[in-house]
Formats: sequence, structure tokens, C-alpha cells
Amino acid sequence: MIIAMDGPAASGKGTLAKQLASHYGLGHLDTGALYRAVARDMLAGGRDLDDEVAAAQTARNIDPETLEDPGLRTAAMGEAASLVAKLPQVREALVEYQRAFARRPGGAVIEGRDIGTVVCPDADVKIFVEASAQVRAKRRHKELIEAGQDIAYEEIHAQIAARDALDRSRAVSPLVPAQDAHLLDTSDLGIEAALKAAVKLIDSVIR
Ligand code: DC
Repeated sequence: MIIAMDGPAASGKGTLAKQLASHYGLGHLDTGALYRAVARDMLAGGRDLDDEVAAAQTARNIDPETLEDPGLRTAAMGEAASLVAKLPQVREALVEYQRAFARRPGGAVIEGRDIGTVVCPDADVKIFVEASAQVRAKRRHKELIEAGQDIAYEEIHAQIAARDALDRSRAVSPLVPAQDAHLLDTSDLGIEAALKAAVKLIDSVIR
């Protein structure tokens, strides 16, 4: 079984995708980490983030062992990732890796922005996870404060709005729900309630 999960930054899809993978015994791939890794390796090599040929080459050489690197999780790397994610040759270079992961025996939960529309259009279940920009900014702000960072809510809200605009408006693979995606709004749901809702939805589709 392939579960495609898409949604904007801080919608809760990452936590949900991991929990669903464990619930159904599936592999899990966070495709945002691939774009973040391209940005990291480009910056480490002193390259400009808009050098498409170098970025595509970097994308073809990503080491999957480095995708758990905590250095990928910073706000700065998220921003850098959104720049390389605009480049068509980078997306093309990463799509095969993602499809190969999806084909693994036993199935997978794959999360990102274009999984249901481009990477796995034939996924068994597609979920588009949403939450209001205010709720997402509050969640992200709480996480960062708990991690010891001193940052204002307003700044996070502005960052989330800017990232949404970039992800939704780019020419290639913009963030849009697939026509056959099920919408899951987590604005008023805690983690457990969101998991319960997602499992109910998936079970109703696959059984
Ligand atoms: O989900 P994230 O914050 O780790 O994603 C980082 C950036 O990569 C974000 O700007 C969107 C982009 N991305 C994408 O374009 N396509 C994907 N499948 C996953 C992420």
C-alpha cells in the first residue's frame, strides 16, 4: 500500500506520516528532507542555490544515510530548500528516488508537497493535510521556544506565509491537493485525534 501525504509547512503531516507508517507497518519517506539535503550540500560546496545544473547533480548524489541530519531541520535550511525545490531539474532528479522508495515491498507512506499529484499519482490513498496559517505558526513557535530559540510568533507567522506563497505559486509541481485527495484539517485536532481521523479515513478507503 502507498499512502501519499501532502500539505503545507507545519500542517502536522510529518508527525502523522511517521505514526501512520508505524500503525500500518510501512516504510516512511520525508521528501522535504531530500530538498533540504540538496540545499545543505550545495551550501557546503559553496554553490549558488540557483545554479540548476549543479543542484541537479547534487540531487543525484544525495546520500540517503544523511537524511536524519539534525542540521537539515533549521528554518534557514527550510528556506534554502524552498529555493532549490523551484528548479525543474532538481525535482526531476529526485523523483526517481522517491518512486523507487514507493515501490519497496511492503509499501510506504511518502510525505511532501507533490506526492499525490506528481510522484505517486496512483497511490492507494492520498491525504492532503491542512491547518490554518495561525495554528501552524503557533505550533512551530511552540516547538522553537521549547527548543530554546528566542523568536517572536509574528516572525514565524510571516515565515510560514512566505513559504506557503512560494510552495503554492511555483511553476513546477506547486502545492495543490490532488483531485482525488482526502482533505484532513488538523486546525482543531491534537496529534492523537488527527491520527484517529487519518486511520478512519484510510481504513474506509482500503477495506
Ligand atoms: O516539508 P519541508 O519543510 O521539509 O520542505 C522543505 C521545502 O522543500 C519546502 O519549501 C517545500 C519543498 N518540498 C517540495 O517542493 N516538494 C516536496 N515533495 C517536499 C518538499
